[in-house]
Amino acid sequence: FGRPWTFIRGVPSLKFLPPEGPLEVAFAGRSNVGKSSLINALVSHKGLARTSNTPGRTQELNYFVPEGYSGEAGDLPPMALVDMPGYGYAQAPKDQVDAWTKLVFDYLRGRATLKRVYVLIDSRHGVKKNDDEVLDLLDKAAVSYQIVLTKTDKIKPPAVTKLLADTTEKIKKRPAAYPGIIATSSEKSEGLDDLREAIAQTVGI
Ligand code: GTP
Ligand code: MG
Repeated sequence: FGRPWTFIRGVPSLKFLPPEGPLEVAFAGRSNVGKSSLINALVSHKGLARTSNTPGRTQELNYFVPEGYSGEAGDLPPMALVDMPGYGYAQAPKDQVDAWTKLVFDYLRGRATLKRVYVLIDSRHGVKKNDDEVLDLLDKAAVSYQIVLTKTDKIKPPAVTKLLADTTEKIKKRPAAYPGIIATSSEKSEGLDDLREAIAQTVGI
């Protein structure tokens, strides 16, 4: 994570996915949970992934890789980070929501090089019904995932501790859940090293 990262591709539907190459780590979660902000914080590059106060900002699967690799065979980046459109944004037009949901679900189910999904949960809200649906899908598809709490700066430390305990209890019987929950704040740069380490270990770098 010490080098600059760059955007390589926005994928509006599965046929535009890049050929399977580097191991991928994806960031999923409800609209506005802080996926794009967390990617920017991880790679220390504000504005790399576009963020917004308005839910529904990210509308494609956006691929980010470390700079300096041609992408040709033999010169592939060690990994790619994939920013995903959020789910559960009721205000968007139904057709659009359906298209995003299909894209997100098809990608999560069918990508062989997808090594792990970080499922982001807003510290203020905890695990909601549509989060559970995504976790069900990942469990069914046997896609490894780990829970990341976001925006911990918005609640008090004891509430973070309680949420960690409650969420750990909630997911402990889920077969594809990687044990351990990482608490983060992109705003206050908290938990970022833990998450970087987890990702590096996952992709084996
Ligand atoms: P979509 O692309 O719409 O699904 O949203 P997203 O999950 O990518 O969220 P995004 O990163 O765009 O952030 C949504 C809002 O939350 C923005 O206004 C961010 O500034 C804010 N935000 C993100 N992370 C944090 C955080 O750690 N703390 C606080 N206080 N605000 C945050
Ligand atoms: Mg986004």
